[in-house]
Amino acid sequence: MEHIILSGIKPTGQLHLGSYIGAISNFIKYQKEDDKTFIFIADLHALTLPIDPKELYENTRDLVAFYLAAGLDPEKVAIFLQSQVPAHSELGIILNNYAYMGEMSRMTQFKDKSAKLNEKSIGLGLFTYPVLMAADILLYNAEIVPVGEDQKQHVELCRDLAIRINNRYKQEIFVVPTPVIAKTGARIMSLSDPTKKMSKSDPKGDIFLKDDLKIARKKIMSAVTDLGSEVKYDKENKPGISNLLTIYSCLKGITIEEAEKEFVNQRYGEFKKAVADVVCAFLEDIQSKYTKVIESGIIDKVLHDGALKASKIADETVERVKKAIGLYSF
Ligand code: AMP
Ligand code: TRP
Repeated sequence: MEHIILSGIKPTGQLHLGSYIGAISNFIKYQKEDDKTFIFIADLHALTLPIDPKELYENTRDLVAFYLAAGLDPEKVAIFLQSQVPAHSELGIILNNYAYMGEMSRMTQFKDKSAKLNEKSIGLGLFTYPVLMAADILLYNAEIVPVGEDQKQHVELCRDLAIRINNRYKQEIFVVPTPVIAKTGARIMSLSDPTKKMSKSDPKGDIFLKDDLKIARKKIMSAVTDLGSEVKYDKENKPGISNLLTIYSCLKGITIEEAEKEFVNQRYGEFKKAVADVVCAFLEDIQSKYTKVIESGIIDKVLHDGALKASKIADETVERVKKAIGLYSF
C-alpha cells in the first residue's frame, strides 16, 4: 500500500532555490495517483510573526502558483490552505493540552526567532507553532513528512505527541509520522555566506524563484567560493563549492559524484558559469509556467477542491479524537 504523504510551506517571504530544492521538488517526487498526498500552505503559521496583509495574500497566491508551476498535479494531490480547513485550528487547540512548556521551549526555531524579538512582544503563536504543525500532520494520518532539515525537530515533536496521546488513551488514535529528509539538497546554503542556510531574508545570498535572470546569474558568478582550485565536494573545507555542486546536481537530477566528474580540471570560473546556466534555464522555465498559471485563473478552484478533499479526512480525524478523549460527539 502507498504511504500517506503530507507537507507544507508557510507563505512568508519569497520562495528561493532552497525552498524549491529542499521542499517543493521533493513534493513532486512523492505525488501519487491515489489521493494519498496532501500538500498545503501553512497560512496560519505565517501569522506567527508580524506580516503585512497584502504581502500575506500575495505570497499565498504565489506559493500555490509555484506549486502548480513546479508540477504538483491537483488531480493527484490535495492542494489547500490551512486556514480553509477549520479542523487544523480545532485539533491544534486540543493538542495544546498535551504538549509541555519545557519541550516547546527547547524548539530551536522558537529560540532563534524569539531571540530576534523584544521579549515583551513574542507572540504566543510563535511558541505554540509546532503544536499546530503537529495537528497539520496528524489530521491526515500522514506516515511520511518530507521536509528540509530545519523542520525535523518539529516533526519529531509531532511523533512524541502522537505516541504520548496514544499511550494515554491506550488506543491508536494517531498514526505516528516519520520525517523524511532528502539526502542531497536538504540544506542549500547562502551564496554570500556558505556557512549559513539560504533563507528568505538575504537578497544577496538567495536566488529567488522570481529573480530576474541577469540578477540571478550575477549572484551565482559572485558567489563566495573557497581557497584552492579544484571543483570537489568537501563541506568542511569547501563550503561554497560544495553548495554550488549541490545546486547543480539537484537541478540536473544527477549525483554529486557525476557533477564532480563534469568539472575535473576546470576552473572555478568555468564551473560557476555552468551552474549559472543551469539555474537560469530552471528559472526561465518555472517563471514561464508560473505566469501561465496566474493567467489561467485556476488558483481559486484548485484551493476550493483541495479544501473539500482535505476536510473530508481531517473532519473524520477530529471526530475520532473527540470520541476517544471524551468530548461529546454525535
Ligand atoms: P521556509 O522557507 O522556511 O518556510 O521552509 C519551507 C520548506 O523549505 C521547509 O521544508 C524547509 O525545510 C525548506 N527549506 C527552507 N530553506 C531551505 C534551504 N536553504 N535548503 C533546503 N531546504 C530549505
Ligand atoms: N513549519 C514548516 C515550515 O516552516 C511549514 C509547515 C507547517 C509544515 N506545517 C507543516 C511542514 C506540516 C510539514 C508538515 O516550512
